[in-house]
This record gives sequence, C-alpha cells and structure tokens, in this order.
Amino acid sequence: MLVPVIIATLHYIAVFLLVGAVFAQMYLLKLPPSADAVRGIARADIVFGIGAVAILISGFGNAAHAKGMAYYFHNGAFHLALTLFIVSALLSIGPTIRYRRWKKAVDAGLPGPTEAEWKAQRKWPHIHLTLFAIIAACMAMMARGVMAGG
Ligand code: HEM
Repeated sequence: MLVPVIIATLHYIAVFLLVGAVFAQMYLLKLPPSADAVRGIARADIVFGIGAVAILISGFGNAAHAKGMAYYFHNGAFHLALTLFIVSALLSIGPTIRYRRWKKAVDAGLPGPTEAEWKAQRKWPHIHLTLFAIIAACMAMMARGVMAGG
C-alpha cells in the first residue's frame, strides 16, 4: 500500500513542478527580455523538462500499481491524455531551442531576443496549461472507468 501511495504523491508533486515552471515562464515573458529574464526562462524550461519526465515516470508507475497497465491501455481517456501529453512535449521543442540559443547569446555578451520575438512566446504557457487542464480531466475520468474499453 505504501509504494502506490508514494508513487501517486510523486505524480502530484511532478505536476506541481511542471505547472510551477509554466507559471514562471508566463511571468518572465511579461518582463522585458533582459539577460536575467532570458537566463530565468531557460532555467524554468529545464524545470519544465524535469517535471514532464517525472510525470511520465510516476504516471506509468501509477498505472502499474493502481489498477494495472491493462486497465489503462483499454481506457480511451488514458490514450487521449497520453496523446495530449506528447503534443505538449512536441510543442515545447521549438521554444526550448529558442531559449537555449538566446541564453547562449546573452552569456556571450551578444544581443538576446528582440521585444517582438520575446512577446511571440507568450502564447506557449497558455497552450500548455490548456492541455494540462484537459489531461487532468482525462485522469479523473480514467480513474473512474469513464471511456473504459475504448
Ligand atoms: C500534465 C499531465 C498530468 C496531469 C495534470 C495528471 C494529473 C493526475 C491526477 C489529478 C490524477 C488523479 C486522478 C484521480 O484519482 O481522480 C492522476 C492519476 C494518474 N495519472 Fe496522471 N496526470 C498527468 C499525466 C499523466 C501521464 C502522462 C500518465 C501516464 C503515463 C499518467 C498516469 C496516471 C495514472 C495511471 C493515474 C492513476 C489513476 C487511478 O487512480 O486509476 N498521468 N493524474
């Protein structure tokens, strides 16, 4: 009983980490694109990555310990959640490349992003939070057997 509880707790903590990182990015993108803001967003992006990996590992750990893999693989809400999670991961690749490039530039004393390039990233936190909200709804459904057998 202890192991499933620990894994489920880690799953929630990983979600907090991911959501916290997204809110940090949302805040930083409201600031002017200073060297500090660029370094901050690159750091928050690493936390985003760590949170995402931790969610995936604890998610599969949860699946194995809660109701068993077979239960989830026969649940439509699980498949929808996993698909949206992968979509979120794929959408994060472009911004991650940009943030790393800008960090390298400011660390080398070169100009970072323009105001327009910086502002153009403001949509990403909103897109990820929307996807996470839908995933959370899928989680609640799959835990209760909604879309079972799909
Ligand atoms: C941003 C992404 C995610 C969020 C916000 C999230 C959130 C949650 C929440 C709130 C629960 C509790 C559901 C309940 O008992 O009502 C849960 C459980 C669970 N999650 Fe996630 N999750 C995410 C990603 C994932 C992923 C990617 C996987 C699979 C690899 C996964 C697998 C599970 C499993 C197996 C459970 C246990 C369900 C049960 O008790 O039957 N989660 N998650």
